[in-house]
Amino acid sequence: MKKQIPFFYPTIKIIILLLFVLCFQKIKSQQIQQNPNLDPKIEKKIDSVLTLMNLNEKIGQLVQYSGQWDATGPSTSQGDQQILKKLKKGEVGSMLNIYSVNSIKETQKIVMENSRLKIPLIFGYDVIHGYKTIFPIPLGETASWDLEIMKKSAAIAAKEAASSGLNWTFAPMIDVSRDARWGRIMEGAGEDPYLNSVVGVARIKGFQGEDLSNIFTVAACAKHFAGYGFAEAGRDYNTVNIGLNELHNTILPPFKAAANAGVATFMNSFNDIDGIPSTGNKFLQRDILKGEWNWKGFVVSDWGSIGEMIAHGYAEDKKQAAQIAMNAGSDMDMESYAYEANLEKLLNEKKVSIEQINDAVRRVLRIKFQLGLFDDPYKYCDEKREIDNVYTTENLAFAREVAKKSIVLLKNEKKLLPLSKNIKSIAVIGPLADDKDTPLGNWRGRATYNSAVSLLEGIKKSVDKNVKIIYAKGIDLIIPTVEKGENQFLIPLKFNTTDRSKIAEAVEAAKKSDVVILVIGENAYQTGEGRSQTDIGFAGLQNELFDEVYKVNKNIVLVLMNGRPLELSRVSELAPSILECWHLGSESGNAIADVVFGDYNPSGKLPVSFPHNVGQEPLYYNQKNTGRPYSDKHVTFSGYRDAPKTALYPFGFGLSYTTFSYKNLELDKTEISKNGKLKVSVEVTNTGDRNGEEVVQLYIRDLVGSLVRPIKELKGFEKISLKSGETKIVSFTINSKTLEFYTANKKWEVEPGKFDVWIGGDSTTTLKKSFTVSE
Ligand code: NOJ
Repeated sequence: MKKQIPFFYPTIKIIILLLFVLCFQKIKSQQIQQNPNLDPKIEKKIDSVLTLMNLNEKIGQLVQYSGQWDATGPSTSQGDQQILKKLKKGEVGSMLNIYSVNSIKETQKIVMENSRLKIPLIFGYDVIHGYKTIFPIPLGETASWDLEIMKKSAAIAAKEAASSGLNWTFAPMIDVSRDARWGRIMEGAGEDPYLNSVVGVARIKGFQGEDLSNIFTVAACAKHFAGYGFAEAGRDYNTVNIGLNELHNTILPPFKAAANAGVATFMNSFNDIDGIPSTGNKFLQRDILKGEWNWKGFVVSDWGSIGEMIAHGYAEDKKQAAQIAMNAGSDMDMESYAYEANLEKLLNEKKVSIEQINDAVRRVLRIKFQLGLFDDPYKYCDEKREIDNVYTTENLAFAREVAKKSIVLLKNEKKLLPLSKNIKSIAVIGPLADDKDTPLGNWRGRATYNSAVSLLEGIKKSVDKNVKIIYAKGIDLIIPTVEKGENQFLIPLKFNTTDRSKIAEAVEAAKKSDVVILVIGENAYQTGEGRSQTDIGFAGLQNELFDEVYKVNKNIVLVLMNGRPLELSRVSELAPSILECWHLGSESGNAIADVVFGDYNPSGKLPVSFPHNVGQEPLYYNQKNTGRPYSDKHVTFSGYRDAPKTALYPFGFGLSYTTFSYKNLELDKTEISKNGKLKVSVEVTNTGDRNGEEVVQLYIRDLVGSLVRPIKELKGFEKISLKSGETKIVSFTINSKTLEFYTANKKWEVEPGKFDVWIGGDSTTTLKKSFTVSE
């Protein structure tokens, strides 16, 4: 018999439902109010989309596949047919490694024309230092210490990528990196947390602009969260052993700055920290990033890193890996196929919750809304825009600007540089001298193979017609392991260690010339992902070439092209002039020629220490003191018996064709309270005969702390231009933000006590004053 339902039951139900909805809305609106970065209109739209979605569609939003255009990791693809099926069902949230308006439009169409809810895909790609117009590798570009040009180069890269249909770049990498053996050191801003923070923010602002929905911007990605740059012994993907002090005071600050700057996404990292793989690290992702920092973007796993928790020995199988990753706050699964296969089962078994899944989906949809993809999924797909905006003359001209500002003059004895454009003869020698590919570096986006301006080409364009230029390659650096132009990203290099047949010709060229420009260093693919090395000297026969040339002509301008700090001790004793030219991108040769012939006075400074030898690695200026700081009295002090403790070329170092003097370091107060501030200023004078630019650097030391503090910490810098003879006063404000650190109390605070402050042209500056912070 049918049960009688009292007439008021439905009404009660409705009232309860209404109350529930109101409560829910209130909590939501409180959350939105708490986070001014959330747009209430977008949040409402996400609510309505979420209510329409079934579980498979939700899980699908958390799935990212790689197109077969350009693999950037071990192949994990389940095949195009399977991907196609999923796309049609609306069970894919994102694709990576698909590019060009045409391909992106075609892929987006599959979703828009077949799926039930037509939720657009977001297309990601590694636009690391340019899309088609290639800028210096990030480590090199950081050497410019010019935040404006870094922001602009990121903006140009974004414009080219967005005009080609892309919405999202996996950059910037802001892993503090102190080990030259680690190949990925080329991809970040070097060894210092402050420099990584400000450079990271500049790049994020460049990529994302003011408004993500602008057709010329892309969503950025702060990576790799966290600790990836601290891989043990510089071996890529390796374990990381750090405590809370190092985590909070060294590794996290750039990520916090990125979160505050509104970076749209984070990528987690391959490494474990103290036994917990980052992809499964709840403390990092849920407690700190999404909790404490209240950040609202989404976290993408690194390539296959959810599945890799099995190899780590942290998960038994993909199901458990998916459970750990979801619980830990990894929102999107890049190429592990773990979420799509397991989240539903895990939900049924109550091992993950629907709230977690909804939150992850909400985060992904939020960025899609912000990009404007729901308004128009083909918004970034305009063939004309692609033709008009990619690889333009204007972009190349800017790439030349950035490249010349990234060059660091390491040595210039007897003012060999700049060379006169009327010099009688120049021998241009070396395996990289006429290399049109190496300057593009690794992670080169859609660069055309062999498209950079080589140094030989740059020199030929710069000098007078009468100058005799003799080019001799001297040696081949590598023996090809791929066909010309084929992607080398995943394939190891093989070095030439036997063929010396071209050295004699180089020696002849050197004999006959007034000066030798010798161009050696590293192949484009010697640094980057998976390119760790134990030897950071010159590979192959490059030392031999140097020696043979040096025997007949000592007037050597050594031009280095490389992605990591190199071991330069021997050559730096011998060569009178050395230019650190990294992998400078499309305009490399023109930019180097600008510096070699003095059209541009070099102003770059090292963002990372260059060691005397590899045994010093990891090497960084902001070390802590031991109980036995270095002394040469006898052996029981911290240091090496066979090498100095300090760098050959220190952090912040770089010469100019002019000289600068620093004097009159002044503090406006010598005592402040914890919340007080003081002004520190210095007089900088251009004491040489050329106009130039100088990076004025501020360092502090907190002398006694509840935790041992570094012996020096960069806290500010300003790049200034000074005419010959001109003096400028440069000042910085020191306040609680400058002085605070993550203390033994497990919070960011200023501890009272004595501080030293230095201002100078590199991290070894001795111009110092002291002040006290009282309670
Ligand atoms: C793995 C790298 O670690 C990461 O930085 C990159 O963005 C992805 N592959 C995608 O290519």
